[in-house]
Formats: sequence, structure tokens, C-alpha cells
Amino acid sequence: MRNFSFHNPTKIHFGEGQIAKLGQEIPAGSRVLVTHGGGSIFQNGVWAQVEAALAGFAISRFAGIEANPQFDTLLRAVEQARRDHCDFILAIGGGSVIDGSKFIAAALCHAGEPLELLTGARAKAALPLGCVLTLGATGSESNPHGVVTHVARQEKLPFSSPLLFPRFAILDPCTTFSLPLRQVGNGVVDAFVHTIEQYLTYPADAPLQDRYAEGLLQTLIEEGPKALSNPEDYRVRANLMWCATQALNGLIGCGVPQDWASHLIGHELTALYHIDHARTLAVVLPALLAERREAKRAKLLQYAERVWQLREGSEDRRIDAAIAATEAFFKRMGVPTRLSEHGLDADAIPQVLAQLQRHQLVALGEHRDIDLEASERILLRAL
Ligand code: NZQ
Ligand code: ZN
Repeated sequence: MRNFSFHNPTKIHFGEGQIAKLGQEIPAGSRVLVTHGGGSIFQNGVWAQVEAALAGFAISRFAGIEANPQFDTLLRAVEQARRDHCDFILAIGGGSVIDGSKFIAAALCHAGEPLELLTGARAKAALPLGCVLTLGATGSESNPHGVVTHVARQEKLPFSSPLLFPRFAILDPCTTFSLPLRQVGNGVVDAFVHTIEQYLTYPADAPLQDRYAEGLLQTLIEEGPKALSNPEDYRVRANLMWCATQALNGLIGCGVPQDWASHLIGHELTALYHIDHARTLAVVLPALLAERREAKRAKLLQYAERVWQLREGSEDRRIDAAIAATEAFFKRMGVPTRLSEHGLDADAIPQVLAQLQRHQLVALGEHRDIDLEASERILLRAL
């Protein structure tokens, strides 16, 4: 196992009715910028609970943080927060609202141009942030990362700072009952792929991290389809929500090699072709596993055996079967696995490669050997 430092300061309040704890988590007297997306929080009763819990606080509400949060929208929120002298941010929503709110928190305290925070400058300070999660998927509710879309540049720009861990996150599985089935599938696939990217590399003498990861993968496989067939099953929603948090709160990645190539290639597909984040992953990951089967052979065999119970036949047959099972699972979650299902053919690939080059994403994977030629082979397999 490699050396690591682990510190996750986000306090989690998990379960039905926990939104009522908001009032005790936000410091008394705070002026709160409350951020959210479109209308879902008004339709599913989340806003009513938040409003009741925030009685007595000065609130400035900013609506309209879109899926794949846009830089220009977030700048408007920064302006509003300055105007209203906000000193705390409460994000209500999924990964997009929380990521966007992290950017707002950092931009409010940044002396230079806000764009610098997305192009290499580390945040030196940030407003405190809390969140009410309504879509388990990204892990943003208890991690220090975010991704902001710059539409004019056709870019998804990641940023990260320990200052951006939410102070607290409220996870009430009931809030997810209203999710469209498309978002249920997306959430399960995103959490699944986050887990795979910290697990399916090469053996690193980390059996505990392996078993954490395998536990998450098996739980997602067992519970995911139940959320599609029985959307109001609290137990299922609770397990999925907690899996998604655990998949990207830093714990399973401690001390092990990681391969974020599917995410990095996927971000370019979203920026160029507006494919939902998780849907890019469902396209790229199976193709990447097939392309990287030699480098990942030992872990692919472990994955086949422990996650899919594939023990019969030659090594190559077990690996093929594990990759096919992965793709079939994504399909079972209603998530397409081919570029062609998104209306793209081989003509789209050069543009993706040009973006990867522009962003210097030319040495990806746990061995830093997924160059542009390898990315091209992965995308060709994904057609
Ligand atoms: O805007 P509203 O009306 O709220 O609708 C949202 C949105 O349209 C809807 N929704 C959310 N909760 C709902 C609901 N609808 C009904 N009932 C509810 N309870 O869902 C739609 C999608 O929401 P979004 O936040 O975009 O989804 P997700 O959580 O998948 O977030 C995706 C974003 O997170 C980034 C992605 O790149 C993408 O921008 N990621 C962030 C990461 C991180 N911070 O660590 C890691 C991830 O890999 C990912 O890159
Ligand atoms: Zn993701």
C-alpha cells in the first residue's frame, strides 16, 4: 500500500427528516446564499422543509444552476452573494448545484479573475458551504472537487481544494423518490464507475480497499435495478445514496493506484456533445477495460470472480464475460453504452482527440500510457 493522508471533514446527517437539522448546522446570524437548480425542489417538498428549517436566517436564493453548471451562471450567483453580503452557502441539489456552489464559495474570496480558479490557481480561501443532497451520484456532497462548464470554450474544467469540502451534508433518501428514471440510472452508473476507477488497476497489496470497492460494486448491482422498478422503496434509495457518497469521499482510493481516464475522456464528450456525465462513462468504461485488458489483467480476473462470480473457463473468457456483464448492467440501468446510441459515429472521434490534446490529457491511466492513439482505440471500440 502507498503512503497517504486522509482527512474528510464533512459531517453527514443521513436519513428521513434530517433536513430539520439545517438550523443547528448553519451558524446563527449567517446570511445564507441558498443555491439550487430548476424546479425539482419545489415539486418534491424539499424546499418547504429547507424553508422551515431556515426560519430566522437571512436568505438570498439563487435559482437556475443547470446540469453541468455553467461559468456565466455561477458568476451571476457570485454577484448576488456579494450584493446581499452572504457569508454562508447552502446548496440544494445534485452534483451540479454542489459543484457550482463550491466554485461560488471560492470565487467570492478570490482576489483575481474567477476563471483563474478553473485554470490552475488554487483557492486560498472560501466561504463555508453546506448541502442538502437530492441526487446520489457524484460524491460531491463530501469531497473537495468540482467541475464547471465553460460554454464558449467548450470545456469542462475541474478544480479542487481542501477548503471546498462541504461543512455538512444532509442525505435524506426520501428526497430522491422524485428523480426521473434517467437520473436514477445515471447516479448508479456514476457511483459504479467512480469505484471501478479506484479499484480496477493492478494489485497494490490493499485487500481492505479492494473489498470496500467490491462491496460497493455488489451493492450497486443488487440495489440499482430495484430503484427503477420500485422508486419509492426507502431502503433501496438509502443504500444507493450511501454507496454514491462512499464511492467518492476519498476512503476507497487511499493508498491505491487510480485510473481516471474514463472520466477525463467522458468530460470531453459532455463538453462537445452534451451527453449526460454518467452516460459518457457508460460508453467509455467498457471499451477502456477491453482495450486495457493486459495492463489490468490481474484485477480484471479478481473483479470477474468476486463481483460477478465468474470462475469457469479460461482467463480470457472470464475477462470477456466480466466486461460484458458490466455493459449489460449499465443497460439494465437504462443507460446506453455506445456512441452510436448518442447519434455519434467515427467522424466525432478526431474532435474528442483534439480536445484531449488541447487539455494535455495525453498520458492517462494508472501507468500514464493511455496516449492519444490508445484513446482513439478506446473510442473506436465504443462506437
Ligand atoms: O435542476 P433540477 O430541477 O433540480 O433538476 C435536476 C437536474 O436536471 C435533477 N434532480 C436532482 N435532484 C432531483 C432532480 N429531479 C427530481 N428530483 C430530485 N430529487 O437532476 C438533473 C441532473 O442533476 P445534476 O446535479 O446535473 O446530476 P449529477 O448529480 O449527476 O451531477 C453531475 C455533475 O457533477 C459533475 C459532473 O461532471 C456534472 O457536471 N461531477 C462532479 C464530481 C465531483 N464533484 O466529485 C465527480 C463526478 O465524476 C462528476 O464529474
Ligand atoms: Zn463521475
